[in-house]
Amino acid sequence: MKVPYVDLGSQWLSIKDRALPKISEVLESGMYLEHPLIESLEERIAKRLGVKYATTLNSGTDALIFSLAALGITRGDEVITVPNSYIASVAAIEHIGATAVFVDVGPDHLINSDLIEEAITLKTKAIMPVHLEGKMADMVAINRIAKKHGLLIIEDAAQAFGSKFLDHQPGNLSDIACFSFHPLKNLNAAGDGGLVATNNYDLIEKVNRIKNHGQTSRNISPNFGFVSRLDSIQAAILSIKLDDLDSTIQRRRLFAKQYEENLVKHKIQTPVFSSEIFHSYHLYVIEIDNRDQVQVALSNAGIETKVHYPTLITDQVAYTSRHPIKNWNIPIAKKQREKILSLPIHQNLSSEQIDYVCNKLRELT
Ligand SMILES: Cc1ncc(COP(=O)(O)O)c(C=O)c1O
Repeated sequence: MKVPYVDLGSQWLSIKDRALPKISEVLESGMYLEHPLIESLEERIAKRLGVKYATTLNSGTDALIFSLAALGITRGDEVITVPNSYIASVAAIEHIGATAVFVDVGPDHLINSDLIEEAITLKTKAIMPVHLEGKMADMVAINRIAKKHGLLIIEDAAQAFGSKFLDHQPGNLSDIACFSFHPLKNLNAAGDGGLVATNNYDLIEKVNRIKNHGQTSRNISPNFGFVSRLDSIQAAILSIKLDDLDSTIQRRRLFAKQYEENLVKHKIQTPVFSSEIFHSYHLYVIEIDNRDQVQVALSNAGIETKVHYPTLITDQVAYTSRHPIKNWNIPIAKKQREKILSLPIHQNLSSEQIDYVCNKLRELT
């Protein structure tokens, strides 16, 4: 049996009949960049997230960079974040000239909010929790700390569209939240895309200007900006994917439950998270000894898995080549890096395939 890690072809077939007329409508309209579909997608997303404003962009990375810039974070400022994220989280901090300060994670792979206060210095301007795997960090605790120390909060919610902490979604307990519509995300475009969500009008206006040559109106640019607009065709596809998102997440949660029930029996470490979290299962990450050997054996059995992420950002050459060696106190992230394994969890799987993965894992452990 084959168990692919992702199956974007099947995803397309499930929306094709609805998507083709919309794509055709966009192409016939000639409005390849500013079709009204974009604004209506932004409005729908803002409403769903429970925020006042949302604006689409070319990528989640741009969402982070532009949000940091809009928050006024700049050279010499420090931003507290985690070392076990995708490179983009820290790339964004570096691109605006600020410095990342790394705090260790908990057993849930998320920022350990108990360790944040000791990382705060006079240069700290913001906290950037990263809601990895589809699990939101403890935004209530992070908010309390930020208020106490006068810090901004920017959420890296690239992996967490559809996730909740208690009743709070990304953007509800922060200054700004950043999402990615990368093809592997739960809400995914057929290419790159991203979004910023906030309740702050000033911030959304700034991001809107930065993403469009700094323009305040046509041909008027008080500042230089960039070009980072979501294409109209991607908005057409995303609007249909958004219609299906709840059922996508529901199916992923069903498979997660099936994994959980089976793997717990085999004494495999399944995802750890508190009861306050609504997990949207962008990823299903187990921890396992001899991870690399297990991954090869699974691959030989037709099961595709991934590691998110094999290298901590603190060990990436992009980072080490810029910063003097520093012994970050991140033992939990270091330990988890060797054990984490992302199993297939997408909506196009069958429960037979999940059983097959569980049985193979049992044989191997
Ligand atoms: C945690 C995290 N942050 C940021 C990003 C960047 O998003 P994008 O690939 O859309 O630029 C990603 C995307 O993979 C991510 O997983």
